[in-house]
Amino acid sequence: MDTDQQARRYHPALVTLHWLVALLLFFVLPLGFLQKLVKDNVYDVVNFWHVNLGFTVFLLMLLRLSVRRRTQIPASAAGTPAWAARLGILNHRLFYVVLLVEPILGYLTTNAQGYPLVWFDLIPIWSPFGKTDAADAILAIHFYVAWVILALIVLHVCGALYHRIVRRDDTLSRMT
Ligand code: HEM
Ligand code: HEM
Repeated sequence: MDTDQQARRYHPALVTLHWLVALLLFFVLPLGFLQKLVKDNVYDVVNFWHVNLGFTVFLLMLLRLSVRRRTQIPASAAGTPAWAARLGILNHRLFYVVLLVEPILGYLTTNAQGYPLVWFDLIPIWSPFGKTDAADAILAIHFYVAWVILALIVLHVCGALYHRIVRRDDTLSRMT
């Protein structure tokens, strides 16, 4: 649906989900890195919000994927060079992949560490395996994927600024 010419802006549900997920990542990413840096007495609270908001990102991304498949996606702004349009589409698709994969890796880490997820201490999430030695390896992948997410965010914001400052087109208003 990336090349649909009719839609001039993203569906309001997609816009809401876009900014909600962006806001959550603003907390989930720093809280993730903080876990190894904070003292033991605050670790639990940092870990609680990281894990639960992180899993919320996963649920919202599932919903967002479903909305995206059912709604029209605006084509790149007129005059956007083909390379920039392709890079934008790739950037958006990779966001969907990593923002679904990363919470799953986090969830697998909690299982492997022997702390199966109970979402916000309310909803137990089925755990595929118990405590295992693979925890460190899964966490290492979780760590590297977090850096991929950060890199995609930097690229994405540069893209938004490129449209706003260099091309001066209406790209930003389609997501507001
Ligand atoms: C998009 C969502 C997420 C992002 C960007 C993210 C990012 C991170 C980052 C950057 C770290 C630090 C890694 C390190 O220092 O080695 C981390 C650690 C961790 N994350 Fe996530 N995470 C996400 C979701 C989740 C979810 C959903 C869970 C669990 C259900 C989770 C569980 C963990 C655990 C258990 C750790 C290790 C804590 C420790 O060091 O004791 N993460 N995460
Ligand atoms: C930080 C986390 C962010 C993530 C994960 C993210 C993700 C995405 C994704 C996946 C899309 C494609 C639309 C969709 O299919 O849902 C998109 C579009 C867009 N985002 Fe973001 N975004 C983030 C932050 C931002 C920020 C900070 C800005 C503004 C500076 C921004 C501006 C836009 C604009 C203008 C579009 C429309 C692009 C186009 O139509 O080509 N985003 N974003």
